[in-house]
Amino acid sequence: MTTTEQPPTDSMRRFDELLRADEKIEPRDWMPDEYRKTMIRQIAQHAHSEVIGQQPEGNWITRAPSLRRKAILMAKVQDEAGHGLYLYAAAETLGISRDELNQLLHTGRQKYSSIFNYPTLSWADIGAIGWLVDGAAITNQVMLTRTSYGPYARAMVRICKEESFHQRQGFEIMVTLTRGTDEQKAMAQDALDRWWWPSLAMFGPPDADSTHTEQSMAWKIKLETNDELRQKFVDMTVPQADHLGLRIPDPDLVWNEERGHYDFGEIDWDDFWQVVKGNGPCNRERIASKVRAWNDGAWVREAAAAHAERQRRRAAGNGGSNGRSSGRDRDTEVRR
Ligand SMILES: [Fe+2]
Ligand SMILES: [Fe+2]
Repeated sequence: MTTTEQPPTDSMRRFDELLRADEKIEPRDWMPDEYRKTMIRQIAQHAHSEVIGQQPEGNWITRAPSLRRKAILMAKVQDEAGHGLYLYAAAETLGISRDELNQLLHTGRQKYSSIFNYPTLSWADIGAIGWLVDGAAITNQVMLTRTSYGPYARAMVRICKEESFHQRQGFEIMVTLTRGTDEQKAMAQDALDRWWWPSLAMFGPPDADSTHTEQSMAWKIKLETNDELRQKFVDMTVPQADHLGLRIPDPDLVWNEERGHYDFGEIDWDDFWQVVKGNGPCNRERIASKVRAWNDGAWVREAAAAHAERQRRRAAGNGGSNGRSSGRDRDTEVRR
């Protein structure tokens, strides 16, 4: 590994040693520019996905079929907002601000997972998203708890715990629907039919076409390839579909005794790239809602920043008087 900037050889050596010893790279450590850029791109894309991912499910909060379902869905959507915040904080340790990251997303220069550009047409979609989309996310993210960048790996530990709750709540919705009326069973099957292939595409292009995989594996950012993770997900999910009595919409899906894995059909990558390029069913709507929420929330950010600044000034001004202020002072501050 050499760069045109010619970093001190010691720094480069230390970076390589840390990777070799399976130790974490921390914000204080020297790292190659490309490593830093890759980490920013990946963590930002992940953070944006958590935040945008609230939209398709938020769509059903007001129409959840019972108070219990509503409370669970609200908690789940709120978890996703929290995941976004941990991840923005992890990205900030690499020297980029949350404001910059938001601008990059809003202007289309950074992406979020394409899965969130599909609409949620029925309540069963909320079950299918938890079961399949959160299920695919966990498959990918368990690996990331061991990724080489410390703040990202640590954020993933907590996120994975919450994702496994999300996956179970989705599966439980599917169990309830598939034990219900014929109409409910049909809803569950329809949701699986629509979410199956986009969920498989979540793992990214086949290894042979994946531009980032090789370098990311050398840097121990990725520990398993897209195809390996996709296979793991299929092997885990097919028995769950059998348990539900649902049919996976893939005529080529068959257990391969020799490989000890399921064989499955070809993903429609043209459709995938169309959605990545912005032509999915909901791309424009998702970004428009995100930008609107960002603009509507400007006063909250400004108020919080003004409050923090006032606290800082007060602390600096009271340095000689124990840092205490009377109740009256506080009232005056509030009214100003
Ligand atoms: Fe999440
Ligand atoms: Fe989740």
